[in-house]
Amino acid sequence: MINNKIQKTFEYIDGITIDDSLLLKSVTDILDAGLKSTWKQEERKSFNLDEQYNIKTSVYDQFEVQPEVVKAIAEQLSFNIHPDHVRYQVLRAGIPKHTDAKRYGIINYIINAGGDNVVTKWYDSDDNVIETRVVEEKKWYKMKTDIDHTIEGMTSDRLMLSISLI
Ligand SMILES: [Fe+2]
Repeated sequence: MINNKIQKTFEYIDGITIDDSLLLKSVTDILDAGLKSTWKQEERKSFNLDEQYNIKTSVYDQFEVQPEVVKAIAEQLSFNIHPDHVRYQVLRAGIPKHTDAKRYGIINYIINAGGDNVVTKWYDSDDNVIETRVVEEKKWYKMKTDIDHTIEGMTSDRLMLSISLI
């Protein structure tokens, strides 16, 4: 069972698995499954990500996750989650340095890394890089999101399952 504590900037975790065949592998597949984008236009503006949202090209998006996937994940957590806190997360073309608005951390699983050398960096309050990681696909991990972080080096869509810790 996985708890909701974040003890390190980044760590791979054991004790949670997902059947890969349950997961959708692209934005096209997500849309074809009838799952909806959940990232609001106001939030896009506050992060200066997109002037004009386009579901096919937006640099950041979140989508609903199939109920059976949410259920399979929830059974492996020692805390309660609302289904809204499990999302497919899509990143394109890198993401500017930011601190997440509402979540102190995440439990994530990368379905497609979006390139061979996609780097996640975390910064301290003086703007020094404190940790750098090329996170591997298909491994569960926890990371801190209440300090500045960036993701750089994507050459294609980066698709993840993301559980928000709030
Ligand atoms: Fe973030």
